[in-house]
Amino acid sequence: MKGSDHPYRAHLQELTRRLEACLEGSGFNGALIPAGRAPLVFSDDLHYPYRPNPWFCQWCPEAHPGSLIVVGPGRRPLLLFRQEADYWHMPPVTPSGPWVPEWDIRVVRSTPEARNAIPAGHYALLGEPDPDWEGLAVLNPAPLLECLEYLRARKTPYELSCLTEASLRAARGHLAAEASWRNGGSEFDAHLAYCAGAGQHDDELPYRNIIGFDRHGAVLHYQHLERERPAASRSFLIDAGASVAGYAADITRTWAAEQGEFADLVAALDEIQQRLAAGVTPGRDFRELHFAAHREIGGLLVAAGLVTCTAESAVEAGVTRTFFPHGLGHLLGLQVHDVAGTRAEGGGEIPRPDGHPFLRLTRTLEAGCVVTIEPGIYFIDMLLDEARADFRSELIAWDKVAALYPYGGVRIEDNVVALAEGPRNLTREAFAALGA
Ligand code: GLY
Ligand code: MN
Ligand code: MN
Repeated sequence: MKGSDHPYRAHLQELTRRLEACLEGSGFNGALIPAGRAPLVFSDDLHYPYRPNPWFCQWCPEAHPGSLIVVGPGRRPLLLFRQEADYWHMPPVTPSGPWVPEWDIRVVRSTPEARNAIPAGHYALLGEPDPDWEGLAVLNPAPLLECLEYLRARKTPYELSCLTEASLRAARGHLAAEASWRNGGSEFDAHLAYCAGAGQHDDELPYRNIIGFDRHGAVLHYQHLERERPAASRSFLIDAGASVAGYAADITRTWAAEQGEFADLVAALDEIQQRLAAGVTPGRDFRELHFAAHREIGGLLVAAGLVTCTAESAVEAGVTRTFFPHGLGHLLGLQVHDVAGTRAEGGGEIPRPDGHPFLRLTRTLEAGCVVTIEPGIYFIDMLLDEARADFRSELIAWDKVAALYPYGGVRIEDNVVALAEGPRNLTREAFAALGA
């Protein structure tokens, strides 16, 4: 593809249009966006892992600590590319991607040099407070930030290509991790296999891998990696992503070691997940899709013999929330839980429905929105104990719960784009491209 045809060019134009619209009436004539820095550990001379400023990544595919961009309507974007003289670390290599011809790039060696290179203007600064940039701009003005955050839900074709690539990387990791589990590896081994498969180390992953065997699958964000393999593992839940140019994948798969009731539960949830993913269309109120998930899960609880009541009663009595206690999904992009999921157009919040405090997305989907669809069914001690202690106890088939309890839980999570012509499931596409 020639540089001028690359989707990045149209992406840059769209970002410039958005910035112009959001700056209108603000008095600012542009924005300074630092790439951010890795903070120092308390009383140490080591740094925490570097997490680039997502706003920088949206404009510029290569983020390095200390760099800064200057963007605004009617000007060519300027990248002050920080390349310090440093013999302790390898300075970043001057960039050369298809995006480079769209930019003025100036290599700077120090903070004073960078500050002197910023053209005169009245700027907003989008990012973390940093003494390097103090006094140059107004930090994160709320109206500007809110306006840009709201628009970030609409992905450009360039952003979709980054997300597509991230899904492919993550799918490679998933296949490697599953093979490790099937071949007798521990949670830690599965994690290492994942990183090798995805070609990313921990600091590059968009979030810490969630890798749980058996009962650990019941911990929604299980954070440990057991070094020892249990004598026999019955189930494997892995929630793991990858990033490409700052854009994240967020994928979950659950596997059963053998045929049986748990494998049936996984297969049934997988079907439900795909039906829900088919509902990712422009104009769809995500709260409605979340409720549809509860109705589906009510039906599954009946079919699996986990409840003694009807699907409708399971939803009404809140029993579906005992087994499915999180939201159906969230916006995905530069952040795993991308910004403005509950923001109304023009400002204000779209409230979460009563009894659903963890739903991260209450907006109506638009073309280009990318969301996760991640229904789950878990056997969580805390929630089961609460249900056992009140009227819900009668509605739950405890013998069946006891039979499935050792497997922990099931979650299936895909990344799906809402498009006028129908949803595009980036995750299923990625696995299919790998022959899985
Ligand atoms: N990986 C975190 C989530 O699925 O939201
Ligand atoms: Mn996830
Ligand atoms: Mn997710």
